[in-house]
Amino acid sequence: MLFRFGLGFSLPDKDEKLVELSSLLGRYVVLYFYPRAGTPGCTQEALDFQRALPRFRALDAVVVGVSPDKPAALARFAQAQGLEFLLLSDAEGALAEAYGVRDHGKIERSTFLLDRAGVVRWAWRKVRVPGHVEEVLGTLASLVQADKGLNGLIRVRRAKRALRSDPIADEDIMRLLEAAHLAPSCFNNQPWRFVVAQGEKLEAVKKALPGGNYWALKSPAIVAVASHPELDCRLSDHRDYFLFDCGMAVGFLMIQATQMGLVAHPIAGYDPLAVKAALGIPEDWVLITLVVLGWPGDPGELSEKHREIELGPRVRKPLSSVAGWNGLPKEDA
Ligand SMILES: Cc1cc2nc3c(=O)[nH]c(=O)nc-3n(C[C@H](O)[C@H](O)[C@H](O)COP(=O)(O)O)c2cc1C
Repeated sequence: MLFRFGLGFSLPDKDEKLVELSSLLGRYVVLYFYPRAGTPGCTQEALDFQRALPRFRALDAVVVGVSPDKPAALARFAQAQGLEFLLLSDAEGALAEAYGVRDHGKIERSTFLLDRAGVVRWAWRKVRVPGHVEEVLGTLASLVQADKGLNGLIRVRRAKRALRSDPIADEDIMRLLEAAHLAPSCFNNQPWRFVVAQGEKLEAVKKALPGGNYWALKSPAIVAVASHPELDCRLSDHRDYFLFDCGMAVGFLMIQATQMGLVAHPIAGYDPLAVKAALGIPEDWVLITLVVLGWPGDPGELSEKHREIELGPRVRKPLSSVAGWNGLPKEDA
């Protein structure tokens, strides 16, 4: 079960201070719902969480208890039991409703484990208190360990060539552009300019592709990425940042595409002047890349060479030949 943290919520804590749930992003969050402060089960559960607090903190997790109690009741509860973690008052039940743990006004005792991005990674419903906190800790520890692994989208992304010609909805393309536009840039200059080619313009772009990029002819949309040195920082020692920043934007776009099951394959093989003319990009701009978009297709339709690459393993130099500690890698030094 995976869904996004309800970012829109803000609830008062025991001191009536409004807490924006989005402020918790960046850490793991143990969000637990309980029916009523001060009752035996809820007290035991709160005490169990309190005792385990140092271990949750060591895993960079915050514990948040949510109940329909008013702030004053939460303040008495925290004081009486010595609770140091965040207690939120969800008197209207909006948060409980969003998490689906409110039935006819009654709160189902439940716990949600959210990751640093606010994605619910684990949920316990109809919780029985004995042993529950230990189980949450165990799951959290496994999750933290798993998240130290290589990012899954980076691992599976490939510059695939086998494409289907099925259309991509404009809103999906907009999402890709939104992701690209969230990339960092020097002084937040955002030097990237994207031109989405569809229909006649797309056909004109395809005419500018060499034979080796035959596979891109199936694409239902191609995004041209153009920029100009003056659109970004130009610093000492030849540090013109427009290419770097556009590259990051394309990287973000590719990761978003991978999450959406789309192929986003950047290419340099095209006639830049012909594409610029087709898309109305001034000649003195740099047409940095064309990002070929598409849904994954049948590798059987590719040339033998490309089929082998498509189905073969990732090819990379050893990390030690591109990364050095405290100096360039040996072979460059
Ligand atoms: C700037 C750039 C230009 C590229 N140009 C082409 C191209 O013209 N044709 C093509 O088939 N692949 C092209 N590629 C794809 C690369 O060959 C591919 O990313 C590389 O072999 C690594 O494979 P992977 O992305 O699947 O890990 C290009 C990639 C980049 C980043």
